[in-house]
Amino acid sequence: MSGKFSRRQFAKLAGFSALGLAATSANAAPKQKTAADPHAPARFPKDFRWGTATSAYQIEGAVNEDGRGRSIWDTFAHTPGKIEDKTTGDRANEHYHRYKEDVGLMRDLGVKHYRFSIAWPRVFPEGTGKPNPKGLDFYNRLLDELLAKGIEPYATLYHWDLPQALQDRVGGWQSTDTSKAFADYAGYIAERLTDRVKNIFTLNEAGRFLNFGYGWGIDAPGLKLPNAELNQARHNVVLGHGLAVQAIRARGRAGTKVGPAENIATCVPAFDTPENVRAAEIATRELNSGLLSVMLEGKYTDGFLEYAGKDAPKFTAEELKIIGSPNDFVGLNIYAPQFYIAASDKKPGWSVLPFPASFPHMSADWLRIGPETIYWAPRLAAKVWNLKTIYITENGTSSEDKVHADGKIYDLDRIMYLRNYLRQLQRAVAEGVPVRGYFLWTLMDNFEWIYGYEKRFGLVHVDFETQRRTPKLSASFYRDVVTRNAIGA
Ligand code: NOJ
Repeated sequence: MSGKFSRRQFAKLAGFSALGLAATSANAAPKQKTAADPHAPARFPKDFRWGTATSAYQIEGAVNEDGRGRSIWDTFAHTPGKIEDKTTGDRANEHYHRYKEDVGLMRDLGVKHYRFSIAWPRVFPEGTGKPNPKGLDFYNRLLDELLAKGIEPYATLYHWDLPQALQDRVGGWQSTDTSKAFADYAGYIAERLTDRVKNIFTLNEAGRFLNFGYGWGIDAPGLKLPNAELNQARHNVVLGHGLAVQAIRARGRAGTKVGPAENIATCVPAFDTPENVRAAEIATRELNSGLLSVMLEGKYTDGFLEYAGKDAPKFTAEELKIIGSPNDFVGLNIYAPQFYIAASDKKPGWSVLPFPASFPHMSADWLRIGPETIYWAPRLAAKVWNLKTIYITENGTSSEDKVHADGKIYDLDRIMYLRNYLRQLQRAVAEGVPVRGYFLWTLMDNFEWIYGYEKRFGLVHVDFETQRRTPKLSASFYRDVVTRNAIGA
């Protein structure tokens, strides 16, 4: 996310309606804690999955190697004025060549799960048509290395690097041709990789790449579409998700699990009363209505359609059925509280409270500190959509990491952030919220989109001149949590 947008724009993240309607379910009381020893570490379930996450364009580099096609992010990053520190992902972390070292970093952390993304233009340089076997081979090598080191791979199919050819030919997500091309690509990957990849995320943060890329011109491809066209592009994206789910089921090995990874618009009750919690449930459904709600319910909420009015997307009943294809899990990227919600006597029964200027944030100004968000967002989502399996597909923070005179990186603010968020996550899991795993964003510092290399989110510091990787203090913190499967002492 970026600091370059307002609360109103946030509100538009999911094309939401301020005139929200009643959600379908009532609030249930959480189970009580039964800890006998108040100082005992807060444990996670035995089979809880600990991991780290990355994405292709942010780490791979090697943009002109082995037949990779151009993506919209290559074009965008090379456009003057778009990236704050004037860098690109051309070289990034050179992960394409250093992947063995990077898998070694994960092994040292003790994590057994890894979420990475596949670069569509490596596999289909033109977006459709002839595949590029050399591109796929990189992922074959990566998977083999991960499995040899006892790390389970989770592949994301789309982390924003759309083949430029599709943008040029059909206007990218403005056309259902892209939705169909995405499904073909998904099916191809499923055919070739599901012997080793058992879990696939379709789209990463559709809310971000649509609004920032097609609505506000901040991200690639840098468009500022009027509302009706943006809503149509959003519809094409969720259609692409549904078609991809079907293609993976048709062409992948039986038992392959699939779902989206979305930056859910995070709602938090202003304070914990049953009325506010209920209000936050209704708000969760409405504020996510253009993406998660339609993907999980197979229909647009009445509030969304009313709010969009003449700008509502055009769709058929058949398309809604495809969009609502059942998922095996839902991935939630959770960083910050976006909406504090209070119950209201006025329609629609909830209101969004304004943030005071003094609300604390991490080094990125959009990254407000609200550990309770990672408790409430999955709890509310599970309630509203009756979810049985949730992964936290991203959580983490940037910080002003400097190498100290002794060569170490003392990122105490990242540890502060993680320790508080993980406490709240443990609380959710202990109360029965079905979060089955957590992928920390991110393994190592990398290309943070419009911020370039200035914003460092990694557990491992990267010197981008020498490509030297140095685990930060937070890497030790995380290893400790992972190996004890618990937080606190
Ligand atoms: C969300 C995105 O998925 C990821 O690519 C990005 O680096 C992080 N958030 C941090 O902003």
